[in-house]
Amino acid sequence: MKITVIGAGNVGATCANVMAQKELASEIVLLDIKEGFAEGKALDIMQTATLLGFDTQVTGVTADYSKTAGSEVVVVTSGIPRKPGMTREDLIGTNAGIVKDVVTNILKYSPNAIIVVISNPMDTMTYLALKSTGLPKNRIIGMGGILDSVRFKCYLSQALNVPASDLQGVVIGGHGDTTMIPLARFATYNGVPVSTLLSADALNTVVSSTMVGGATLTKFLGTSAWMAPGAAGAALVESIVRDEKKIYPCCVSLDGEYGQKDICIGVPAIIGKNGFEKVVDFKLNADEQALFNKSADAVRSMNGVLKELNLL
Ligand code: APR
Repeated sequence: MKITVIGAGNVGATCANVMAQKELASEIVLLDIKEGFAEGKALDIMQTATLLGFDTQVTGVTADYSKTAGSEVVVVTSGIPRKPGMTREDLIGTNAGIVKDVVTNILKYSPNAIIVVISNPMDTMTYLALKSTGLPKNRIIGMGGILDSVRFKCYLSQALNVPASDLQGVVIGGHGDTTMIPLARFATYNGVPVSTLLSADALNTVVSSTMVGGATLTKFLGTSAWMAPGAAGAALVESIVRDEKKIYPCCVSLDGEYGQKDICIGVPAIIGKNGFEKVVDFKLNADEQALFNKSADAVRSMNGVLKELNLL
């Protein structure tokens, strides 16, 4: 099993590091355009192998896609991250060109790869990857909802003072500060609805903190976060390579599910060896569906920018 990660920056290197520690593949290739950068990150990860007890071989390359040949999964993190005050959508002008170029190069050497998109604005980058490659929809998955959901559970665990691992919570919709939809009605503490354990105000605070979770970190760090995004990317890859068939909220192409078509947006999906295998219908109520439709409108209008940039 071979996995490639494009972009050896904060998110890419963290994702490769977590995947190596979990031994998700015998070989992980990190690729970056910055001379020597991926090589350095890979060597640093390899020097933790005897300390952490893994045998995955991690190698780094500068812009040489031939070294990525035969990858079964490719994670795309290349592009610029946001700075304080920026939205994920502000990144489109730079990242769209990079993502289109990268997915074209990946497929030259790994024609059967499943592609996981992390670069932002992620919903639009996933749509661009799907449309520009013409790959079957199950092989292009955007990572955003998993991250937003773990942030949701983190804030819930703080509000309830219980372990996050005892919580279930799902965030659907676009991966943007105003487009994501933490599904508070479905969130439970081991099956007990959190709405019966928290006041409406406290639950609203958790929801709004989740929605600006990335922006909060960007303000603290001066750049966007990488620990949880990298680990979330690795979790998604794990469900693919181990054929776990976990339900993760992921950005996938919809064909009528949740009332939407011709869009990639976050919904609960079963993830296994073929990529995304099925969208799971959570039976939204009218209010939730209205929020989802509004979120889809915002994502669709961002997708429209791809035409203005002559990328589709
Ligand atoms: N090919 C390969 N690598 C590239 C390319 C390219 N065409 N263009 C840029 N890169 C590399 C950069 O050299 C850099 O090392 O992508 C890396 C991005 O790393 P960071 O700047 O550290 O950004 P990071 O925090 O990892 O975020 C990457 O993930 O979460 C999203 O919004 C975030 O879009 C951003 C992406």
